[in-house]
Amino acid sequence: MTSKPIQERTPVGIVGAGPAGLMLSHLLARSGIGSVAIDNRTREVIENTNRAGILEQDSVRLLTDTGVDGRVLTHGSEHEGIELRFNGAGHRIHFKDLVGASVWLYPQTDVFIDLADARERDGGDVRFGVSDTRVRDVTGKPVMAFTESDGTPHEVSCDYLVGADGSHSICRGEVPEALRTHFFKEYPFAWFGIMVEAPMSAPELIYTRHERGFALISQRTETLQRMYFQCDPSTDPAQWSDDRIWDELQTRVAGGGFSLEEGPITEKVVLPFRSFVAEPMRHGNLFLAGDAAHTVPPTGAKGLNLALQDVKVLHEVLDGAVNLGKPELLEEYSTRALRRVWMAQQFSYRMTTMLHTLPGQTPFDARRQLGQLESIVSSPYGSAHLAECYTGWPTAP
Ligand code: PHB
Repeated sequence: MTSKPIQERTPVGIVGAGPAGLMLSHLLARSGIGSVAIDNRTREVIENTNRAGILEQDSVRLLTDTGVDGRVLTHGSEHEGIELRFNGAGHRIHFKDLVGASVWLYPQTDVFIDLADARERDGGDVRFGVSDTRVRDVTGKPVMAFTESDGTPHEVSCDYLVGADGSHSICRGEVPEALRTHFFKEYPFAWFGIMVEAPMSAPELIYTRHERGFALISQRTETLQRMYFQCDPSTDPAQWSDDRIWDELQTRVAGGGFSLEEGPITEKVVLPFRSFVAEPMRHGNLFLAGDAAHTVPPTGAKGLNLALQDVKVLHEVLDGAVNLGKPELLEEYSTRALRRVWMAQQFSYRMTTMLHTLPGQTPFDARRQLGQLESIVSSPYGSAHLAECYTGWPTAP
């Protein structure tokens, strides 16, 4: 027997309580605007999903300046550069010297934990583990319907609905086909990711191009490291022994006296890879944010940063509409957010195509890639451009 849904009201309904949804809920609360955020995953599931770990300096500021938590400053680590490695030699791109900026290594799961804790601390309305989520009437008075983890059905009517529900977004489907354009770019490769119990091999991240393919040496803590290497999308991680993984990684990063520290591998995953943008990011009273509207290949470490910038802009326009009586500001959301999205798409595409080998690539392609890398590391202008893109741009006006 199904019971009658419990009727509720909130100014802003947020589908998806990952970093984008929670950050928006947090920012809105600071402006006195109420919201209800729901997620079909439990808090534990989100906390235990490993995602990328680089925060642009504006993302760090958004966390610290708005009182989420300063844990990023005490538990994260500031990186003033990265290494680009090719032809067996490493080349440092010094962000601080080149553009006066840095990034922070602080995993997305920790950002999520800080935001979830802050929402709990501030009495935010966040409901994890809901099911059967549906949305309707997004061009009028939107409704967010779902069943709570205790089995009770709820219907929350809102003035504005935000789809921060990830790459498989249900909210995105509410934008009629005739009114939207989806842009895709598929890549013929994926990333094999591992978590390793070992000391750090280098103080900063190493992005490597090798004839056998891309490799990335990243970190988590003094004793836990994250590494990736380019693989075929059909790769089954279970078929890869630890020895085979180390052979592959060691071959790709070898040279110039560099030594990669090995250790027990505690996780093996194959990560999909694509570029995607849904335009526009607004339809009526529905606003898309983060992965619901766009995905980038992980090479530029932009996914989480873009999501946080989306909600920073979204908060500004919602605050203007609700508190200043300026609903016309809502019209700017999509254009403002998309400006940065396409800059990040371009950067992520460039990092990806410059560092990965394409199946069947010609010797010309390989030499051209090396020429591209050389033109970055041998020129302060080339290096500064990469540094500017990697550390992030100012919020779009
Ligand atoms: C990570 O640490 O997981 C990571 C870092 C940089 C990237 C992608 C992933 O570009």
